[in-house]
Amino acid sequence: MRRLQKLSYFALALLVLASSVLIAQAQPPVTVYKLRNAHGVEAQITNYGGILMSLKVPDRNGKFDDVVLGFNTPEDYMKKNDPYFGAIIGRYGNRIAKGRFKLNGVEYKLAVNNGENHLHGGIKGFDKVVWTGRETRTKDGPAVVLTYLSKDGEEGYPGNLRVTVVYRLTNNNELRIDYSATTDKDTVLNLTHHSYFNFLGEGNGDILNHQVKIDADEFVPTDAGSIPLGTLSKVVGTPFDFLKSTAIGARINDDNEQLKLGNGYDHTFVIRGRAGTLRHAASVYEPTTGRTMEVFTTEPGMQLYTGNFLNGTLTGKSGKPYPRRSGFCLETQHYPDSPNQPSFPTTTLRKGAAYHSTTIYKFGYQK
Ligand code: GAL
Repeated sequence: MRRLQKLSYFALALLVLASSVLIAQAQPPVTVYKLRNAHGVEAQITNYGGILMSLKVPDRNGKFDDVVLGFNTPEDYMKKNDPYFGAIIGRYGNRIAKGRFKLNGVEYKLAVNNGENHLHGGIKGFDKVVWTGRETRTKDGPAVVLTYLSKDGEEGYPGNLRVTVVYRLTNNNELRIDYSATTDKDTVLNLTHHSYFNFLGEGNGDILNHQVKIDADEFVPTDAGSIPLGTLSKVVGTPFDFLKSTAIGARINDDNEQLKLGNGYDHTFVIRGRAGTLRHAASVYEPTTGRTMEVFTTEPGMQLYTGNFLNGTLTGKSGKPYPRRSGFCLETQHYPDSPNQPSFPTTTLRKGAAYHSTTIYKFGYQK
C-alpha cells in the first residue's frame, strides 16, 4: 500500500514537471519586429506586452525622431516597472471600482492594483504577457499580428478570451491598430494602446506646448481615485474644451476641481459621432517641429493623460530622464468602470460574439 502511494506521488511529481516544461515551452520567444513603410517611417514592436518601443517620424524639415517614450530592449520593460509605455492594455483599459463587477448575477473579483481599484487589466495585464507574434505584409504596408489566449479566471475575469491585435504601419504614415476577440463565457473587455507621445522627440522636454483638438462636447468627471461619478460633464466653458486646438499647458494649472483631482488631464472624453464607426477623434500639432497627428477610432471615448505621474526617475532610450508631463497619451477606449455604470455604453462581450475595435494614429507635419 505504502509502495503504491509512493509510486503515485512519484507519478504526480513527474506529471507536474512535464506540464511545467510544456507550459514553459508554450511561451513564445520575445522578439522585436521592425516595420518600415515606403516613406521611411519606422516602428519597433515587441511581442512582450505588444509594446510599441519606438516610432520614428519626420518633422517639417525631413528630420526623423523617435516620438514615443520607452526603453531600448524588451528586458528593460520587464525590469523597470514602467507606467505602461507603448503597451497593449487589457482586459480592461482604465479602472474598475474596487476591482468588482456583476455579470449575469455573479460577482467577479478582480486583481486590485491601484489603491482599492483595478487598473489596466490588473497585476499581470496584457502589457506584461508574451504574445505570439507574426510579421506580415499587407497591401497597405508592413504589419505585426499578435495573438494571446487569456485563460478563464486570469486576473479574475471570466471566460477564455482569444485576442488578436494587428499593428499596421501603412504607406499613408498611419499606425493602424485593429483589435479583435472572442470568449467562451460572457465577460467584459476594453482594449487600448498606451503610447506616450512627445513630438519634440522622446526625452526632449515636456509636452505642454503641443496643441490638441478633441472632438468631444462632454467628458467623464471622476472622484479622487479616478473613478467616474456616473455623470457626463459639458466641456464648454471649462479647461476641458478642446473643440478648438489649444496647447495642453494653456489651462492645465487652472483652479478646476477635476484638474486637481486628476493631477492634470487624466480624463475620458466622449467622442462625437456614433461609437462603432471609425471617426475622427483628435488632432495634435507641435509648433517647433511642425509634427502633427490625427486620431481616428471606433471607440466611444478617448482618455487624455498628460503624464502627470512621471517624475524623472525613469531614464529613456537616449539616456535622458522622463520628468512629469514629458509624454501624453490618447487612449481610445470605453469609459472607465463601465461594468458598474449602467448608463455608460456596455463593455460586455457575450459568448460567441465578436469584439472589434480600430484606432488609427496618422502622422504628418505642417510647413
Ligand atoms: C493612464 C491612467 C493614469 C495612470 C497611467 C499610468 O492610462 O489614466 O491614471 O494610471 O495610465 O501611470
